[in-house]
Amino acid sequence: SSPRHLMSISDLTSGEFSALVRNAALRKQAVKAAQAPTSLTTALTGQTVAMMFSKRSTRTRVSTEAAVTMLGGHPMFLGKDDIQLGVNESLYDTSVVISSMTSCMVARVGPHSDVANLAKHSSVPVINALSDDFHPLQTIADFLTISEAFPSSGTGLGLNGLKVAWIGDSNNVLFDLATGCVKMGVDIAVASPKGYGIPDSMRQLITSAAQGVDSPGKLSETTVPEEAIQGADVLVTDTWISMGQESEKKKRLDAFSGYQITSELAKRGGAKDGWKFMHCLPRHAEEVADEVFYSPRSLVFPEAENRLWAAMTAALEGLVVNKGRIQ
Ligand code: CP
Ligand code: NVA
Repeated sequence: SSPRHLMSISDLTSGEFSALVRNAALRKQAVKAAQAPTSLTTALTGQTVAMMFSKRSTRTRVSTEAAVTMLGGHPMFLGKDDIQLGVNESLYDTSVVISSMTSCMVARVGPHSDVANLAKHSSVPVINALSDDFHPLQTIADFLTISEAFPSSGTGLGLNGLKVAWIGDSNNVLFDLATGCVKMGVDIAVASPKGYGIPDSMRQLITSAAQGVDSPGKLSETTVPEEAIQGADVLVTDTWISMGQESEKKKRLDAFSGYQITSELAKRGGAKDGWKFMHCLPRHAEEVADEVFYSPRSLVFPEAENRLWAAMTAALEGLVVNKGRIQ
């Protein structure tokens, strides 16, 4: 049977998604308490995970390599100048060949169709490590971070009723975060300048995540940052200029002026008293002021560390050891 892949959070049911987040939390605790069972530390013994990256990366590369190493496997990093991917060889040929020799492929690409095509022809699970449309590993880490900052007493993640405000570009990181919010009953309000909002097809995908969810989170959209911030528990942003958009830098800096997250903006917008700040990184000063980024409200460094536990869980849980069964 064909393996199951992780292309975006929309591939997961809400139960599967919250299980991934919970399991990431459990593994984090076990490893930190030096109580990781041998079943964890030898889970990938003798297995190679191919990491095909056509774009730069700090967190995704380091977390994936570290996670695979901690599981006893071998992460094989293949940068864009190392292999023939899409340049001198078709995605089809590359996928068939690499999947015949490895246990999993983790790929960072431009167009989402590139990683989707790798998955389509692969005999092993493929994990999307960022495409122009989605960043599922980031969203798993982000929900681990949110659940740590807003702990619940129940057995589930217990995040129902929280509100996230996304202030900035409607991009890959947002699309999976918003899908995760809908699935977890977290409301998400997005403020983007005119022309930088959520494309129609993506809005459809995000809102369709509500299907089968008891009390799904609601998505709202505005061009006014203050409106999105009203009553928010978490303020989130990302770069205004994603990889591949470098030539639009000047135009984008102009379009996003007034969108920088500052204490003043949060206050004016009426964020909740205990509001927190998140950012997937890398960060630039234009999208968030130092006074917020380096403040006690900021979750950015635990959020980055949580990429490790997200990578471990994604590699382990459904995608390598269980050949596609997320438990
Ligand atoms: N957040 C994130 O994916 O960072 P990198 O681009 O450094 O991997
Ligand atoms: N939106 C950013 C995320 C980087 C992790 C980009 O695509 O470059």
